[in-house]
Amino acid sequence: MTPRVSGGGRPMPSRAWAEVDLDAIAHNVAQLRRVAAPAEVCAVVKADGYGHGAAPVARAALAAGATWLAVAQVPEAAPLRDLGIEAPILLLSQPRPDELDDALELDLDVTVYSPDLLRTLADAARARGVAARVHLKVDTGMRRVGVEPGDALAVAEAIRDERWLTLASVWTHCAVADEPDEPFTAEQLARYDGVLADLAAAGIDVPMRHAANSAAALAHPAARYDLVRCGISVYGIPPSPALADRADLRQAVRLATEVSFVKQVAAGERISYGLRHRFERDTVVATLPIGYADGVFRRLGLLHQDVLIGGRRHPMVGVVTMDQLMVDVGPDADVAVGDEAVLLGRQGDERITPDEWAARLDTISYEVVCAIGARVERRYPSP
Ligand SMILES: Cc1ncc(COP(=O)(O)O)c(C=O)c1O
Repeated sequence: MTPRVSGGGRPMPSRAWAEVDLDAIAHNVAQLRRVAAPAEVCAVVKADGYGHGAAPVARAALAAGATWLAVAQVPEAAPLRDLGIEAPILLLSQPRPDELDDALELDLDVTVYSPDLLRTLADAARARGVAARVHLKVDTGMRRVGVEPGDALAVAEAIRDERWLTLASVWTHCAVADEPDEPFTAEQLARYDGVLADLAAAGIDVPMRHAANSAAALAHPAARYDLVRCGISVYGIPPSPALADRADLRQAVRLATEVSFVKQVAAGERISYGLRHRFERDTVVATLPIGYADGVFRRLGLLHQDVLIGGRRHPMVGVVTMDQLMVDVGPDADVAVGDEAVLLGRQGDERITPDEWAARLDTISYEVVCAIGARVERRYPSP
């Protein structure tokens, strides 16, 4: 069949968009609440909600029963408060000294792991006349940030003894919870339990304990404590393919665009920068107005990652360029400018997951969704 070749008449199609299904977010939070109960659910909405849009996700998660939100950096919390969100927001990373005042102004729950920061935080809290809520992070084996387990008691005592600080939680983070058979998670939890026991013996009240990310919440019941801090699972993406069957999660994101150009190519022709793909047969190529600046990794083209057009899978060809990529839609294609093309998510009976990209790219689904670029419009279709 002759392709309907691009051209005249039609306005330029829209560029790329990411549809985020907020019902899926609510469904996922409900699943996580069920799995983790009686622990509560903290929805992690850092990095603009893993690329999904922090504010709409935060609202949907809270409406579905999450009781906490978490972000990594102080500025990430401001838009949430600006929208009137009053739920507690945990800062997962310790703020810089010059951010403490903003953190208190935004009424954030502040993680601390450098004892030096406590004095400055107490001074900032005194100036406002409200005690700062401190969440003491203990490094039980991730070796990224946190006080050493042996130092936790002294730091907790310093917090207890400071009038302008309140110890709100003692927490830790798991390094390998996504590998369910890896014994190191149990080792980390044992170190964490040891810290909690030392504090209890010293008469220090720990109002909240938390250790679990999504993987630990799903795969390690002992890690659930009082709160689970779930990010990737809220977005309906399993923390690792090995944990895909631990909960009924629904992928919230659908990354799509419209075909912007269609042409015939001949066997032997080559395509895209470096001319690194050679066509074995005459075929039809569709160009999409989305590229690596939008989060479609350059290598995906050479790896022939599929795109859905007309409910069927078609491989990318040639390297993905900054703003555009090309798809071999086959010699008999009935593809036209303006047809929808889906890079992640469902079209017809087919579905592409962030894990599919991640497996090709030797990375993780987190990197795939966080890479969705700022110029990709986020849409929140109502059902
Ligand atoms: C300290 C901490 N807790 C929880 C999470 C959420 O992890 P996940 O997205 O695997 O649920 C993260 C994310 O990286 C984190 O850094």
